[in-house]
Amino acid sequence: MTVLVIIYCFILLILILAVYQKNTNVICKSKRRLDGKTAIVTGGNSGMGLEIAKDLALRGARVIVACPFEDEGNAAQELIIQYSGNQNVQFEYLDLSSFASVRKFATKVIEQETKLHILVNNAGVAAGNMSTDGNNYVMQVNYLGTVLLTLLLLPLLEKSGDQEEQSRIINTASLTHKIGRVNLEGWKQSGLSILHYANSKLCIMLFTYELGKRLKSSRVIVNAVDPGFVGTQIYKNGTNIIIGPPLTFLIALLSKNPFEGSQTAIHAAVCESARKQNGQYFINCKVTNTAESSWYRDDKTTELLWNKTMDVIKFE
Ligand SMILES: *[C@@H]1O[C@H](CO)[C@@H](O)[C@H](O)[C@H]1NC(C)=O
Ligand SMILES: *[C@@H]1O[C@H](CO)[C@@H](O)[C@H](O)[C@H]1NC(C)=O
Ligand SMILES: *[C@@H]1O[C@H](CO)[C@@H](O)[C@H](O)[C@H]1NC(C)=O
Repeated sequence: MTVLVIIYCFILLILILAVYQKNTNVICKSKRRLDGKTAIVTGGNSGMGLEIAKDLALRGARVIVACPFEDEGNAAQELIIQYSGNQNVQFEYLDLSSFASVRKFATKVIEQETKLHILVNNAGVAAGNMSTDGNNYVMQVNYLGTVLLTLLLLPLLEKSGDQEEQSRIINTASLTHKIGRVNLEGWKQSGLSILHYANSKLCIMLFTYELGKRLKSSRVIVNAVDPGFVGTQIYKNGTNIIIGPPLTFLIALLSKNPFEGSQTAIHAAVCESARKQNGQYFINCKVTNTAESSWYRDDKTTELLWNKTMDVIKFE
């Protein structure tokens, strides 16, 4: 009996939290145009990434959708052009789980583009075993590959920004970073994907903080955003036919849709007021004090993580 009550209370608590975060979602109200600007959105083929890409295209930006699925990438390009009336949208192949692919993509962008103003590191995975480079798959896509991409594109971002309007990097974090750890040995291990997911999100927060520090008074700013609990396809896989449909239904009912989830990233990418922030963490279009006051912000760990990351991604 007592156990049942506890279980019910727990479920109720989760439901209340989910309904709360869905109903307190903030929509980015900025009307700012992005004519003449260039943006890259990783994972811009579906879900939140697609919503972000559509929004930036509608504001007049040249948008490059980067993802590892040819068909979905081409379809997204078509869809975004139709939606926005902006012809300046392009799909480029990028597989974040491979360092070689990241380097190839970055080289192509640097050759082909004269400017890059916005980099939205939206792509992420929640499951997977090992990458071809021998790292945990989730860790490589969400953190290592994303960091390599960012650092390779940094010179182009720097060249394109100015003191008035810095170029912007947006990293996608998650509240799960709160249960994450900096486990430098764990990168080479398989294991529970949810833990690697949380760890990857903590690492991307620390990277955002450290890069922000290094970019101080440069022409680029970097911030992390929390999309909240978004009902993407991530949750559909791995559930069987009995619990699959009800679970999918429940998640659809309680979670934010991709449009709602994309708003904080859009805010950080375009809004005038977000321009003043650097190395910060946004929830619901607002900076939280997490970056400044959180337990994880230990300078020694952050520096160790940075050094180790540069070794693994072989960034000179
Ligand atoms: C995950 O990768 C490890 C190391 O390569 C391997 O031993 C293990 O069998 C893999 N697990 C699955 C489920 O593929
Ligand atoms: C889900 O699984 C299907 C087939 O197993 C796969 O094609 C698809 O890419 C997976 N989706 C995600 C989001 O992992
Ligand atoms: C990180 O690398 C720098 C430069 O190589 C070095 O000076 C510093 O001591 C390293 N920090 C840690 C914590 O290993």
